[in-house]
Amino acid sequence: MSVLGDPAGQSGGSGRVSGKVALVTGSARGQGAAHARLLAEEGAAVLLTDVLDEEGQAVAEEIAAAGGRASYQRLDVASPADWDRATATIRERFGPVTVLVANAGVVSRRSLLEVDDEEWERVTAINQRGVMLGMRHCIPSMVEAGGGSVINISSVLGIAALAPHAAYMAAKHAVIGMTRAAARSYGPDGVRVNAVCPGMIATPMSGGAPAGLVTAMVERIPLGRAAEPVEVAQLVLFLASEEASYVSGTAIPIDGALMA
Ligand SMILES: NC(=O)c1ccc[n+]([C@@H]2O[C@H](COP(=O)([O-])OP(=O)(O)OC[C@H]3O[C@@H](n4cnc5c(N)ncnc54)[C@H](O)[C@@H]3O)[C@@H](O)[C@H]2O)c1
Repeated sequence: MSVLGDPAGQSGGSGRVSGKVALVTGSARGQGAAHARLLAEEGAAVLLTDVLDEEGQAVAEEIAAAGGRASYQRLDVASPADWDRATATIRERFGPVTVLVANAGVVSRRSLLEVDDEEWERVTAINQRGVMLGMRHCIPSMVEAGGGSVINISSVLGIAALAPHAAYMAAKHAVIGMTRAAARSYGPDGVRVNAVCPGMIATPMSGGAPAGLVTAMVERIPLGRAAEPVEVAQLVLFLASEEASYVSGTAIPIDGALMA
């Protein structure tokens, strides 16, 4: 059975990313947990990382119990020291990282005049600087390994102003800019860098949005619903795999045609 019907999901893979070593940030729950499960199911060794240690450890144990190669380590993406430790750990446990899924994120729903400096800094530190630090710490291993794939999680709010969320949108736009810059710089080393731009995905993050906002967004989605995390994971898996060997420098909406 595949991960689509099996939360542990280790039995249905066909090795689409076997031999790859993946680090997934923010993988204790939500979309990050789905990315980690599917990458492991398809043969990657996966280091799950988050600041929610108990939940992250539990997901890693569930993957390992089902036969996948996975372990957990605490990594606050805004902390360069945590990145140093995590990249050392993944190298020691599985080898140099060849797939980075920079997924960790926090939401801020305030408009430009409402958001205070503290919230702006926190959102920027996690959603923007965290992605930069991830690439800075993982791309050298990919170059050393002869290539790799970086998947940065942006948002449809990284493309357009569909909501007031000023700090969030600024950071998610920056993720796309950094993605393009890195794709250009490290393409010659065999490193592909892409951004994924989810629309409305059913996770604790969107579950925390005011009901009116969720209903208004869903009404604008031509496919008429929010996506399940595993539907985004299928795109992440594709980008991590050799099937995407000529895909780099893109920002791909996965939004049920919201942006259409
Ligand atoms: N849910 C949506 O509708 C939606 C839409 C577009 C983009 N996104 C993006 O998708 C990504 C995943 O979000 P999700 O929907 O799974 O939300 P989520 O809140 O369920 O998961 C986010 C994860 O990031 C972790 N995290 C937060 N701060 C961290 C830090 N400093 N260091 C490490 N980990 C940290 C959280 O603990 C959590 O496990 C985020 O980047 C989010 O902005 C979500």
